Amino acid sequence: MNTKKIAKIVGISLAVILISFFTIMGFIFYDVMSYTANGFENFSPEGNVTGNALVVYDPGISGQSANSALNIAKELQNKGYNVDLVGINNPKAKNTSNYDLIVVGGPIYAGKASNSVQSYLNNLKPSNGTKIAVFAMGSDKDVMKNSKLLKSEVAPLNNNTSLKIDAVGKFISTENNNQSIVVFVESFS
Ligand SMILES: Cc1cc2nc3c(=O)[nH]c(=O)nc-3n(C[C@H](O)[C@H](O)[C@H](O)COP(=O)(O)O)c2cc1C
Repeated sequence: MNTKKIAKIVGISLAVILISFFTIMGFIFYDVMSYTANGFENFSPEGNVTGNALVVYDPGISGQSANSALNIAKELQNKGYNVDLVGINNPKAKNTSNYDLIVVGGPIYAGKASNSVQSYLNNLKPSNGTKIAVFAMGSDKDVMKNSKLLKSEVAPLNNNTSLKIDAVGKFISTENNNQSIVVFVESFS
């Protein structure tokens, strides 16, 4: 084997190792982000209270998912809801009684909602009559053309769950999502 060939093989191997390393680190970092999601904020409406809403979020890495959750919370507040905006790892996220609406969401990586969102949904036992909405942040618009695909990406549920999802929304990371958030909130509130 000549030195050119050896250098090529070493180069390709190094590239594969580096790409694998950064991908794995990315996923570890991203999972860690969800475990540090302990935030809590309350948004109470100025006038009459329409109901109580819980917005639970996995913040993602770049913070766009957290930002969408904040905008959803503010939109619900505008509609008269008393809103608790809670990081997915805050113990308050598990206390789901006394809410008329529960909204859950986070980022999409590799075609699926984050592990934290999947696990939250599959363990969710809402009170009777509570509406459930799920949102996700991603860059791929194609999946939005097919509601079944969209649901399986944004709100994947185990086969044995009886959870009923009332609304699913995906927001695109490269776009201004203000209007989409208004439409999404309108669909279940
Ligand atoms: C490694 C990687 C994989 C991704 N996979 C998808 C995907 O399958 N579908 C999608 O819509 N967006 C995908 N995205 C885009 C992210 O969902 C998008 O950047 C989003 O804003 C991430 O959320 P965050 O801003 O809260 O971190 C991917 C991004 C990265 C870096």
